[in-house]
Amino acid sequence: MKVTNPKLIISAVAKKQYPEGNLPEIAFVGRSNVGKSSLINTLLARNGLAHTSGQPGKTQTLNFYNIDEKVFFVDVPGYGYAKVSKAQREQFGAMVEEYLSSRDQLKGVVSLMDARHEPSEDDKLMYHWLEYYQVPILVVATKADKVAAGRFNAVESRIKKSLNFDKDTSELILFSATKKFGSEEVWQWLEKKADV
Ligand code: GTP
Ligand code: MG
Repeated sequence: MKVTNPKLIISAVAKKQYPEGNLPEIAFVGRSNVGKSSLINTLLARNGLAHTSGQPGKTQTLNFYNIDEKVFFVDVPGYGYAKVSKAQREQFGAMVEEYLSSRDQLKGVVSLMDARHEPSEDDKLMYHWLEYYQVPILVVATKADKVAAGRFNAVESRIKKSLNFDKDTSELILFSATKKFGSEEVWQWLEKKADV
């Protein structure tokens, strides 16, 4: 899909603020600082539309981007960020869970993991939780520019093994926002899931 006019519609903290209408939605989840906002910017070829930061915890609301009136991208606050208070973490958790478990428009979730590391306990929990809710999942192993190309197969097998990957519900793609590879494959997946 050629994107001409992506727009941030709302930064929501509660259900009543979610956009109205029936456009399909694709959500982006993952640990704080893993690269969710960078992936969104790369897909849209817009630097800085989704705010990125070297400091974890940048995205703190459910940010709904309307992509040419065809699909919403939803940038979700990252998990596993130690520096927010416990109360705040619980509040984020509840907000994210409510959205992911109850939103009819949600057609798929892009679950980002760091290509350099074994999936964390939180990554595994998120993956299994999404499986439980029967949401189609695309695992994006990001920052793959930090891994030698010769190790890509090993990275893929390690992540799949660690997640107990279900190939009926899930796919996996290696991606880099810096070197800009993988975005076509991510687009293909989300166009199929969102039917755009
Ligand atoms: P929160 O909003 O805090 O949850 O973070 P986020 O997941 O949105 O991460 P963000 O996109 O802000 O990126 C975090 C940091 O990782 C930034 O310094 C990015 O430049 C860097 N980064 C993101 N993607 C890549 C990538 O593919 N390769 C490399 N080398 N760095 C990346
Ligand atoms: Mg972010």
